[in-house]
Amino acid sequence: MAEEKRPVRILTIGSANMDMVLRMKRIPTAGETFVDRDGGLSYIPGGKGANCAVAAAKMGAVSQLCARLGADANGKCLYDTYVEAGVDISHIKVDKTTNTGMAAIFVEANGNNRIVVYPGANQTLIPADAQEAIAAKPDAVCLQFETPFEVTLECAKMAAVRGIPVILDAAPASRAIPLSEFPEVEIFSPNELETEIYTGIAPTGIESCMRACIALSRQIKAKYYVLKLGSRGAFYFDGRLCNMIPAYRVAAVDTTAAGDAFTAALAVRYCETGNLDTAIRFACAVGALTVTKCGASRSIPTREETEEFIASSPVL
Ligand code: ATP
Ligand code: RIB
Repeated sequence: MAEEKRPVRILTIGSANMDMVLRMKRIPTAGETFVDRDGGLSYIPGGKGANCAVAAAKMGAVSQLCARLGADANGKCLYDTYVEAGVDISHIKVDKTTNTGMAAIFVEANGNNRIVVYPGANQTLIPADAQEAIAAKPDAVCLQFETPFEVTLECAKMAAVRGIPVILDAAPASRAIPLSEFPEVEIFSPNELETEIYTGIAPTGIESCMRACIALSRQIKAKYYVLKLGSRGAFYFDGRLCNMIPAYRVAAVDTTAAGDAFTAALAVRYCETGNLDTAIRFACAVGALTVTKCGASRSIPTREETEEFIASSPVL
């Protein structure tokens, strides 16, 4: 593990989207047209991979993003956002054949969201895009499933042969993903719904979380299984011991990117300390702060904001 003092190096390989965020009182039913005069519309940089990379940079890591953008205005805007956030963009490619990925996000008044992704340039990412960055041996590689599965798998294999810890955020989930083909990862982390999709078990309490982790361990080998449980916090299992970490109490406005920010914070703090419990508590603070603001990458707190929040909150 890296020493506490030197900034850790996190490589995220994944998706970059422009999010079209529509805030509304309620989601219309099929066939209904609902004019929400109090609703809101905004375009915000997002994408599970990019959110993770931006969050890692905000947490003080040297953060690299390997992704593909389209040669369009959205791509240019995303690129500028990464530069401004301090993300290393030397492994971002522009694909001239497609548009930049886009997500339509519907946020209801209670903060819940529904997301449809048009993958665009994310679909053109290939393992060779990440080869050089992985060969440079970052402290951890963060992966998700919003780019082609074969790319995620190949990158996990490239990292594994070099002994680089892989943090696999299991989103978005699909039963069709052959998890068993993965080499052992350091951390496998689905949210509640993803856990249910992969295992058929709803992680509602300690006992069902434990059963879900055991079911996951039969599909993919990981040193740690970390379940993200929204306003209930997070649960982890190391093959022997488990623990439930409660969530910080906050007023949720928009949960978009809470999981991505959680994963990045988890990766950074885990690489800094080598201690999973410590890292999850820190990640819970980052996730909680993220839900208090609207929009994906814009809602992610800085390291300083996170540390102030932890210092002023009751101990979890
Ligand atoms: P996303 O909405 O980005 O898909 P996710 O479903 O992957 O997020 P969540 O479980 O919703 O992930 O959130 C990640 C972490 O953020 C949680 O484990 C928790 O620690 C924190 N968190 C999320 N929602 C809340 C909340 N309402 N209150 C406090 N903490 C929260
Ligand atoms: O996890 C949140 C992200 O999912 C959004 O930013 C959206 O782009 C989708 O990828």
